[in-house]
Amino acid sequence: MGIGATAGAAAVGGLALSANASDASGTPSDALVFDKDAYTELTTTVTDAAGNDKEVVYHFWKALTYVADPVDAKYQSLNVSVPVRIDGVAVNAKDAPVLLANSVGGYLPSSVADATGVGGGGTAGLPAGGASASPGATASSGGGTGEVQSGGNAMLNGRGETVDLAKPALAAGYVVVEPGARGRTLTDADGTYYGTAPAAIVDLKAAVRYVRANKGVIPGDTDRIVSTGTSAGGALSALLGASGDSRAYDSRLDELGAADASDAVFAVGAWCPITDLEHADGAYEWNWGGNVTQSTGEVVDQKVSKELRAQFAEYQASLKLRGLKGFGPLTARNYDEYLVKTYLQPSATAYLAGLSDVDRAAYLADNTFITWSGGRATFSWADFLTHVGARKKSAPAFDAFDLSSGENNEFGKDKTQARHFTAYGMKHDTTGVSGSRPDVDIPGKLDLMNPMHHLEKANPGRSRHWWIRLGTKDSDTSLTVSANLAAALDGLGDDVDHLYYWDEGHGSNTDPGDFIAWIARVTRHGKRAGK
Ligand code: DHB
Repeated sequence: MGIGATAGAAAVGGLALSANASDASGTPSDALVFDKDAYTELTTTVTDAAGNDKEVVYHFWKALTYVADPVDAKYQSLNVSVPVRIDGVAVNAKDAPVLLANSVGGYLPSSVADATGVGGGGTAGLPAGGASASPGATASSGGGTGEVQSGGNAMLNGRGETVDLAKPALAAGYVVVEPGARGRTLTDADGTYYGTAPAAIVDLKAAVRYVRANKGVIPGDTDRIVSTGTSAGGALSALLGASGDSRAYDSRLDELGAADASDAVFAVGAWCPITDLEHADGAYEWNWGGNVTQSTGEVVDQKVSKELRAQFAEYQASLKLRGLKGFGPLTARNYDEYLVKTYLQPSATAYLAGLSDVDRAAYLADNTFITWSGGRATFSWADFLTHVGARKKSAPAFDAFDLSSGENNEFGKDKTQARHFTAYGMKHDTTGVSGSRPDVDIPGKLDLMNPMHHLEKANPGRSRHWWIRLGTKDSDTSLTVSANLAAALDGLGDDVDHLYYWDEGHGSNTDPGDFIAWIARVTRHGKRAGK
């Protein structure tokens, strides 16, 4: 197969009797064989975390379709980048970790097909370098594939500069795989939505299977795949990790002619994951319910906010999670104290400790709600909420009564662009939808989209190493969402590194160098016997 050549549906003509795209020996069908010679050699300069420039020569495989029977190869394809020389020194990435960096944002379609090198994936409808576009705005633009922009669902480093993990990973000697995935706005000629839930996670699993099925041919250690993503991409990254090798996706993977291989990933990086969608409205009101909205400056409907908040109390109790560091059972009553003690005060402390004496004094003079004593920051939850100020979203934040949210579109089906996915949303619908419960297929789809569902079942195929990050000023979802994810993982005995970035908003990543180093640590890169 030549560069840029994609596997066509014709290649699966013989698959009728086979559930998976593999022959009897378990090797991938021809359509899914990685052609190791079909690369171009490229050179890029990468500035590492310490500010040093590195020149990386790498081999680049472009737009490899990762399923034998694609619905839309523009999205169901991936790029592979393998370093061969770093600052003039030859590297052999044969056993290197594999960074699987998705560029999904807003649950929108993402494609790498037009990328000209590493780090070039893009999400349709999101501005390059920004993950914070309103999902609702793009949902209402209807079907079509939209303009896919380069730059991906990029993160910001706290100084307003975009952060890309693919290049630093390459400069660290890792293999980088960048998969595209279908997203919620895609429609075919008949107006049928073909990228709504669970399409994106099925696609990412198929991409993992493609890499695994080509073990020994594709460079890198296919048992050390580290998934990354931000926001909706962070949610999908967490879901990929939590749902590894779950059989619940098999029929959908088979339909696509996905490779017959494990889709488990070794480790997960998830930044500001917008997940646990069916419980996110309650969590949002518990967290931000007292804050005015950004758009109107008004306090949201207090009756709605209060009712949703009550749902959070019930849900949180049902999870039976215990907080990290021996905190004990997590409830709606003590979660404020938990966040303040476990995450927010340590986050502010780290931030303030990193400032010069002059800058720290200035920050503290501007933010008198913080007590700085003995090198530690303390403050109350109420003062923290005032400090954050306006909330980003209205109420409900996710299952909008008028079906205007991106998530309503994510749960669209057939020719229906947007649907409710909670009973509360159904009950208060303002669009003329009748019924008291979401459509019958919705609960199953929610399970396929929610990492918490897989963790409740202690899925044995899940990742055991987790890097989770969220800005303290990120009101795209509740601060409890990633804390619950971390608590669930910790309860299962997994290795969880979860921090909140002080005063950072949605999509920030202020410690990319630490993440690259963490990958080496958890994969024991360069340390394993014989490696
Ligand atoms: C994203 C942001 C949101 O507020 C949301 O509800 C879903 C996705 C995003 O940036 O990917």
